[in-house]
Amino acid sequence: MLVRLLFLSSVLLICVGSANAGKTSGFTRNEWPSIDIPLDNEVFAVPKGYNAPQQVHITQGDYDGKAVIISWVTPDEPGSNKVQYGLSEGKYDFTAEGTVQNYTFYDYKSGYIHQCLVDGLQYDTKYYYEIGNGDSSRKFWFQTPPKIDPEASYKFGIIGDLGQTYNSLSTLEHSMQTGTQAILFVGDLSYADRYENHDVGVRWDSWGRFVERSAAYQPWIWSAGNHEIEYFPQMREVIPFRNYLHRYPTPYPASESSSPLWYAVRRASAHIIVLSSYSPFVKYTPQWKWLRQELKKVDRQKTPWLIVLMHAPIYNSNEAHFFEGESMRVVYESWFCQYKVDVIFAGHVHAYERSYRISSLRQNGSSYPVPDKSAPVYITVGDGGNQEGLAKKFRDPQPDYSAFREASYGHSTLEVKNKTHAIYHWNRNDDGKRVQTDTFVLHNQYWGNSRRRRKLKKKVLDYAIANL
Ligand SMILES: [Fe+2]
Repeated sequence: MLVRLLFLSSVLLICVGSANAGKTSGFTRNEWPSIDIPLDNEVFAVPKGYNAPQQVHITQGDYDGKAVIISWVTPDEPGSNKVQYGLSEGKYDFTAEGTVQNYTFYDYKSGYIHQCLVDGLQYDTKYYYEIGNGDSSRKFWFQTPPKIDPEASYKFGIIGDLGQTYNSLSTLEHSMQTGTQAILFVGDLSYADRYENHDVGVRWDSWGRFVERSAAYQPWIWSAGNHEIEYFPQMREVIPFRNYLHRYPTPYPASESSSPLWYAVRRASAHIIVLSSYSPFVKYTPQWKWLRQELKKVDRQKTPWLIVLMHAPIYNSNEAHFFEGESMRVVYESWFCQYKVDVIFAGHVHAYERSYRISSLRQNGSSYPVPDKSAPVYITVGDGGNQEGLAKKFRDPQPDYSAFREASYGHSTLEVKNKTHAIYHWNRNDDGKRVQTDTFVLHNQYWGNSRRRRKLKKKVLDYAIANL
């Protein structure tokens, strides 16, 4: 009943929303200071025991969701690379062996970073796993997704620009309350690049311990932002993405990508494409060639939902970072419309915004967007809560391509119900509380054709009238 009512209210909301121009929310909040939580706070606590594994996180390990990559750090010595796992707690019938490495960054020396591929898993199954040795070992679990199926339901969380402040903690805790099964992360992880010298590595470590409460139990699908670049000639660190790439592996070979920075995974009924805003993407570059091939592989009969993640938004009406996604728009927008991408999530701008379905394709070179039924919805969720604070200044007046915008912190959920529709929420952090603020039904671009959509609306309205 609750789900039906939620669905009904969502459909009514979108009906109301589509009859009006976009909305700029006037919500203001008593913003907590945008400062990083001190290192001695319990949210960064080092697990007890000699050489105990810390910074545990998992990500999808293959193309279709039957594998995970488990990563962790041992601080004192390499220790064991083994993951023991099985179908019940404490009873581990299987073992996988990973690799270990460490690296230096200026005068910082990392702990021992372990990465272990656990593959050949069954779909839709809860696995328990244990890492580390003796008294220092630690136990976690994860749930594999259902098999690739067009009708499979699945709940994604979307988080961006998280950082490690009290606002970040609020976002993380709220996301853990919403029952998500995997997180789509749209870049800018730790904001460790705001520090200098040794402290850069230290804040990458603290962030790993910070997100473990979620990332050890459900896969985070990573994409890189500008804060992962870390080009520091003054520290003689000039190779981009070094800390990020050492710590956050992605299953890029499974989608025949040549770089961990752009790749694709399929999960339940979704095909998820991760792009890198800060790697070459113009015509003939590896990323461009890869994306051209990957889009051809999308099979909407098997994975009806086509989702793209990137860091710099293509459409956004905030004064911050305005037009920074324009060069990627010029190169990829025609593909996004041709292949009927359902939704594109981005971060970067520290505020929330959702667009209508729009494109600039029919504007003869001008980049001002107009309604386009074959275009994606563009959603900016760069509002995780990092130490740089909110991007409070939106362009005025609100452009007619912008459906809803609000300069406060939060995260989103996308609950895929079946092949035709998904329920989307943006959840505002109202200080300690989570408040569902922007809600709509996302109709699938491939399956949710207008006839089908009209029937669905009629059915829901009939239900509403019958229950008045
Ligand atoms: Fe950013």
